Amino acid sequence: MSTELFSLAGKVAIVTGASRGIGRAIALGFADAGADLAVAARTEGDLDDLVTMIGAKGRKAIAVPTDVTDRSQIEVLIKRTVDELGKIDILVNNAGGTRFMSPAVALRPDGWDKAINLNLNSVFHATQLAAQEMLARGGGSIIQMSSVAGILGAQGLSFYSAAKGGVRLMSQAIAKELAGSNVRVNSIAPGWIATDLNEDMHGNEDSSKFITSMIPMARWGEPEEIVGAAIYLASDASSFVTGATLVIDGGQSA
Ligand SMILES: NC(=O)c1ccc[n+]([C@@H]2O[C@H](COP(=O)([O-])OP(=O)(O)OC[C@H]3O[C@@H](n4cnc5c(N)ncnc54)[C@H](OP(=O)(O)O)[C@@H]3O)[C@@H](O)[C@H]2O)c1
Repeated sequence: MSTELFSLAGKVAIVTGASRGIGRAIALGFADAGADLAVAARTEGDLDDLVTMIGAKGRKAIAVPTDVTDRSQIEVLIKRTVDELGKIDILVNNAGGTRFMSPAVALRPDGWDKAINLNLNSVFHATQLAAQEMLARGGGSIIQMSSVAGILGAQGLSFYSAAKGGVRLMSQAIAKELAGSNVRVNSIAPGWIATDLNEDMHGNEDSSKFITSMIPMARWGEPEEIVGAAIYLASDASSFVTGATLVIDGGQSA
């Protein structure tokens, strides 16, 4: 019974930002739970490797090279998923991140635009397009990758905090709009998870110590520690959950 509750057998999922880090872990976890997958990111070679790994688990997968900052490429992602895998049950809007930090007073306007475009605007476009498809079919689950930065605000990351907070609140609003239509929209807010995104920090002893000093569990999280929450929100186990944010941060925001 408990395994059935968390099963994704017969479901089709899109995971963006699947080429590495948290997205890749979620795509592999979804395949283990029985889903077929469309995996998206900009780097085609990494996606092809992932498709091979998912195939080895006995699941179907397609690689769809996509820059999520371009709405027309998201349209192709949605269309190819429906054409080649038959439907969309689950969308994980995971692509995102930032490679720079800057105090707001010194931030270049184009830096603001770039971060908002990647971390907020793209999530709106993908959510809208996938929701239209899900509404036509009668249901679905949309999962947004927010961040603890979007709850607490993070110094030097005003733009990223605004985008990730925006994602969370936009999702709460859309969750209410779609609640009667069996399309659920929820967010995951990770704290510090060791990935390529923050390699310069977890790879540096002093920076890493500073980060872990803020975390009650006194360590970095691993991408695989986000997978259980994603499977929960994607599966029937969370059938009465919409508009929620699941925080996974080792106690940082407690
Ligand atoms: N790591 C953390 O501590 C942490 C904490 C809170 C929230 N998050 C969020 O979790 C998500 C995943 O982060 P991560 O740590 O796994 O980062 P990561 O290792 O840098 O991976 C980011 C993924 O997003 C893809 N991506 C980036 N820009 C893209 C674009 N324009 N179009 C399509 N795909 C794009 C990358 O692939 P390509 O480069 O091949 O496109 C890659 O697959 C992000 O939204 C991030 O903000 C991370």
